[in-house]
Amino acid sequence: MRIDIISVLPQMLEGFLQESIVGRAQKAGLAEIHLHNLRDYSTNRWRRVDDYPFGGFAGMVMQCEPIDRCISALKEQRHYDEVIFTTPDGEQFCQPMANQLSLLENIIILCGHYKGIDQRIREHLITKEISVGDYVLTGGELAAAIITDAVVRIIPGAIGDEQSALSDSFQDGLLSAPVYTRPAVYKDWGGVPDVLLSGHEANIKAWELEQALERTKRLRPDLLKK
Ligand code: ADE
Repeated sequence: MRIDIISVLPQMLEGFLQESIVGRAQKAGLAEIHLHNLRDYSTNRWRRVDDYPFGGFAGMVMQCEPIDRCISALKEQRHYDEVIFTTPDGEQFCQPMANQLSLLENIIILCGHYKGIDQRIREHLITKEISVGDYVLTGGELAAAIITDAVVRIIPGAIGDEQSALSDSFQDGLLSAPVYTRPAVYKDWGGVPDVLLSGHEANIKAWELEQALERTKRLRPDLLKK
């Protein structure tokens, strides 16, 4: 899978892309992630990519031309399945959306900034608008990082133990059961549930499901209604 991220602050994402599962997935050839500095596509002598909004509103708006030039240059190289724009008024990001995106071949993620982007870009070039939550970030870079992380980690092979990605919270619509590791007894904090030490696979599976249901009912009842 290939992800092209367009941003005015690509350096914000450089470190993140080198680390952990996303970094390893790239080294293993499972994901190819490219950063593009939007300013490289400006024809302005000061590399400007924004301007004042018509109508006298507050804030700055990202202009059509640099974004159009950048996306067009990418589209000349290959077909893109989705051109995503990160914005607080987009569709709420969730696990099923990450699963769907992870099946695609090539996607572009355009990081929003300032007051927004010229509406004509949204109408002519963007195919999907995603919000990572009901709060406003300074820019779309962190949202792009969240989307990239959630999508890349579920590409088959990205996580060593594939079972572990499948048992994530939300993957089956439930929160995960609690987990424990050695030592079985620590201070006087109470022990690991006996069933986990029993080696009885069916009982452990039943315990895990019961815990997942109990935690979901208590912490996220909205998930059960879905
Ligand atoms: N840009 C600013 N806030 C955002 C959000 N909540 N989701 C996606 N992009 C954003």
